[in-house]
Amino acid sequence: MSNTFVIKGFGGEHNLRGTVRVTGAKNAALKAIAATVLFRDVVTLANIPEISDTLRMFDLLKDMGADVVNTKNGIYTVLVPHSFATELTPGIAKRMRASIVLTGPILARYGKVSFPHPGGCVIGARPLDLFVDGFEKMGARVTIKDDSYVVEAKGGLRGAEFFLKNQSVTVTETFMMAGVLAKGTTTIKNAAMEPEIADLAHFLNKCGAKISGAGTSTVTIKGGKLLTGKGHRYKTIPDRIEAGSFLILGALAARELHITNCDPLHLESPIEILRSAGVTIETKKTEMIVRAPSRLLPVDIKTHEYPGFPTDLQAPMTVLLTQADGESTVFETIFEGRLNYTEALSAMGASITMMDPHRALVRGKSKLHGRKLMSPDLRAGLAFVIAAIVAKGESVIHNVDTTIDRGYEDVEHRLRAIGVDIERAQMMLEESPENK
Ligand code: EPU
Repeated sequence: MSNTFVIKGFGGEHNLRGTVRVTGAKNAALKAIAATVLFRDVVTLANIPEISDTLRMFDLLKDMGADVVNTKNGIYTVLVPHSFATELTPGIAKRMRASIVLTGPILARYGKVSFPHPGGCVIGARPLDLFVDGFEKMGARVTIKDDSYVVEAKGGLRGAEFFLKNQSVTVTETFMMAGVLAKGTTTIKNAAMEPEIADLAHFLNKCGAKISGAGTSTVTIKGGKLLTGKGHRYKTIPDRIEAGSFLILGALAARELHITNCDPLHLESPIEILRSAGVTIETKKTEMIVRAPSRLLPVDIKTHEYPGFPTDLQAPMTVLLTQADGESTVFETIFEGRLNYTEALSAMGASITMMDPHRALVRGKSKLHGRKLMSPDLRAGLAFVIAAIVAKGESVIHNVDTTIDRGYEDVEHRLRAIGVDIERAQMMLEESPENK
């Protein structure tokens, strides 16, 4: 049996209207949960999205010995004790790439960490070499056996300076957290600059850390003692990917859509691109208002580290480009497996030609028709939801629990409230050719 969404599309009509509220950012919350390892006392985390990835991260901490309490909706308290397992439970860690960020704080606090090669979305190779390099530069010994890593820092971690050959969000966060408890100063050059990193540093600094430059390409951390959560509470920033996805949905299918509880300043690139595609977007401090134009124009997009166009919005944006009048190109520069979903869009009626694994040519405007879809990963999963809303007829999206539910809280209720005809159902996964 598969958890599915059954969506009846509007066939291109602009029928959606109302307000949709954005939840806390998955990729900020997951790191804040990991950061609780740096604290000597209880930490309170608020606005945590109720999605399977955050629940799994809490399960991992609990399994390793932490005390986690869900006090009310979205608010959790976490206490990581002095005696805590240093092995990331393989059964849980293997299923979530973000578990890797726990390695930095655990190694820095307990002098040892072991973990399996983490899983997560199948979107490319996703190596761990930068983690291994960083651990070694900070004085740890890394042993790799089959698919498991054992890292030991007898005598503790020491600060180091490193230049990341690729800008990686999780590498930056892992070593920023490791640096908080290391001896001396750690400097990360060519660091990723995503807002989730600055948000984490801001909270840790309030609790006693000495991090400067987070959100820029050079982050410096002066090591010190365990942090304290007394008198502070972490509140997760709004999810910019969710907000951007609703913006794209609105640009395709809304008479008028209000997206609330978001931060438009985190979405400058997508807003700029959508405006050049002819979309009218009004921005306020924490709200965006979008209306679908009568005609969408083609645009070329190239994914880039923040503040460039986010790879996590590439799939929804490609759906939009299938509805633009003319030829657009999509250049995915971060993950080589992140255009695989285009085959399914073509099967819905889109005209997409793969030029190489990183580049696609999209010719619009195409009439999309509903069909059975297999959600390949979290972000492409939501792109299929958007495509299904735009298409004519019924679509069935399989694998919702292992993809879309990982990152979007209660998305069907929020979409239904703005006029989407969407139902969750349990269905047999037939092996029809359409599903391949
Ligand atoms: N990389 C290396 N070596 C490493 C690690 C990464 O070369 O040791 C390279 C990768 O090959 C890639 C780049 O660095 O070119 C970034 O890859 P990585 O797997 O490190 O990405 P990430 O930082 O873990 C985060 C988000 C992703 C988001 C990317 C890009 C989290 C948990 N994940 O990934 O989110 O796509 O940044 O913004 O924060 C998602 O939420 O669906 C998702 C995949």
